[in-house]
Amino acid sequence: MKYQGVIFDLDGVICSTDHYHYLAWKALADRLGAYFDEEINNRLRGVSRMASLEIVLERYDGTLTQEEKEAAAEEKNDRYRELLKNMSPADLSAEVKETLDALRAKGLLLGIGSSSKNTRFILGQIGLGDYFDKISDGTNITRSKPDPEVFLKAAEYLGLEPKDCLVVEDAVAGIQAAIAAGMDSAAVGDAAKSDLATYRLHSFRDLLTCVE
Ligand code: BG6
Ligand code: MG
Repeated sequence: MKYQGVIFDLDGVICSTDHYHYLAWKALADRLGAYFDEEINNRLRGVSRMASLEIVLERYDGTLTQEEKEAAAEEKNDRYRELLKNMSPADLSAEVKETLDALRAKGLLLGIGSSSKNTRFILGQIGLGDYFDKISDGTNITRSKPDPEVFLKAAEYLGLEPKDCLVVEDAVAGIQAAIAAGMDSAAVGDAAKSDLATYRLHSFRDLLTCVE
């Protein structure tokens, strides 16, 4: 086996939360009178909540104090979490679940490396609350992707060397973070359009051939 563990990004890899992020940011932007669309939303992939807010505010005419920014981020998050309550195990695809099970059956350790502070809530919603061996997320990092911190912490929690881990990502910032961590990476979705990753997956189950 080429790797001893696989570290998965959550949003856009294990499940799709893009639309809920979009709706929650859009509601905040509308209230502020700032322009916001799907294209701007795509730039928020893999980016922390506060850094995302800064991108949303690029189209805002006024200025917000630090306190107002924190309140705006909380307003967005409250709405986002309300929307996340709509998620259920039906939002976990059979292909993703079967591939995870097959990787585990090969003896690989499975971890999460996500910028989201809502990671555990989302995993609970989709029925994977206690599935992963270790979780590194927005609650245990100080620097967001493309900084490698979230993946280095995941490897440390799993008890593995970076070179023995494969990262699975949908964001270019996440692939850059994997490279900075000294880890191989497999790109899905948006990130698969760039040639930065070690592997570009056509479908999630292709992961099984990357680890052999
Ligand atoms: C990442 C998402 O997984 O988490 C980003 O791709 C999001 O879009 C980031 O901004 C932080 O998420 P949260 O749930 O902590 O606001
Ligand atoms: Mg992602």
